[in-house]
Amino acid sequence: MKKIFILTVMAGLALVLANCSGARKLAGVPKLNYTGNLQSVISENCSPCHIPARGGNKKPYDNYANVKTDIDEIIRRIELNPGEKGFMPFRKTTKLSDSTIAIFRQWRTDGALE
Ligand code: HEC
Repeated sequence: MKKIFILTVMAGLALVLANCSGARKLAGVPKLNYTGNLQSVISENCSPCHIPARGGNKKPYDNYANVKTDIDEIIRRIELNPGEKGFMPFRKTTKLSDSTIAIFRQWRTDGALE
């Protein structure tokens, strides 16, 4: 009887673990990094304004250092709704997709690696 109880508790614990962010680590999912995962997303969605090479004159996000420093503000702005003050990408009428926003969030969670 005691064994069954322990098994039940362990199964419950496994379920909880599988549903929280620890699951990625347990599953051996590699952490996101700027160069491999975020840079292309930014260059696609925040261009040309934040990409000096394309004529952008807003704060450059084509480099790791600026994105790392501003990541909280970046996430705050892309999670606003179109039309709200500060919404990014500027003047677009739709938000980035949930999966794209999730890349920014996961990168921060993973430790904002280069
Ligand atoms: C069409 C041009 C345009 C695009 C595309 C654009 N931005 Fe911006 N961005 C601006 C302008 C203009 C400002 C300054 C006005 C303001 O702060 O709202 C700005 C300011 C910002 C700031 C504040 C920077 C600071 O100096 O404090 C952040 C953060 C930001 N943008 C993030 C983003 C992100 C992330 C994307 C892509 C998902 C993006 N922007 C796409 C034009 C753009």
